[in-house]
Amino acid sequence: MKGMIFTEFMEMVEATWSLDMVDTLIAQSHVASGGAYTSVGSYPHEEMIALVGALSQETGVAAPDLIRTFGRHLFGRFALAYPRFLQGISGSFTFLSGIESVIHAEVRKLYPDAEPPSFEVTKTADSLILNYFSEHPFADLAHGLIEGCVAHFGEDIEVRRVTAGDLAGAQARFILALKS
Ligand code: HEM
Repeated sequence: MKGMIFTEFMEMVEATWSLDMVDTLIAQSHVASGGAYTSVGSYPHEEMIALVGALSQETGVAAPDLIRTFGRHLFGRFALAYPRFLQGISGSFTFLSGIESVIHAEVRKLYPDAEPPSFEVTKTADSLILNYFSEHPFADLAHGLIEGCVAHFGEDIEVRRVTAGDLAGAQARFILALKS
């Protein structure tokens, strides 16, 4: 998993809780990297799961809620770091329609070691269906990223998650519907 995701996570923890909390998570999670993340590095995704698990223990907030909240935050950070992906895009249906063919395709080119998830996208006039498939159990992160995207465009869209398959978290279906 790309280092930027780790550095953004640590920055969110520091801003929401404290630098002491960052140190506690590194100590509690026993991550092999020792928590010395750089945005250009790559680290095992298991380290993210361990850090979120430690944050959950420290705060009493369920891990899926923490990672979904992080997803919402991360979308805003992606929007700042990669403004060209959003240029000329008028809304989340258009943006998310290109998540596989444009955004993550570009990510794979920029970072050959990246392993972004796959999405199957179906668009109708007033809804968008995203089927998420990944090697990693980050459907909650995807959920938060989708919500962050909708918030970014300031749209009135309901995001519903329908779990598909039995690979907890590594497959999910999201249904986005325009509220009338
Ligand atoms: C400008 C917007 C976006 C950019 C630049 C971006 C880029 C990336 C990058 C660099 C990674 C790391 C891949 C790796 O660690 O190997 C990633 C992972 C991920 N992305 Fe995106 N992404 C964007 C938007 C989204 C959105 C809107 C979603 C949800 C629909 C999404 C879902 C995910 C998930 C769930 C992961 C975690 C990896 C996994 O599931 O295996 N991303 N993305």
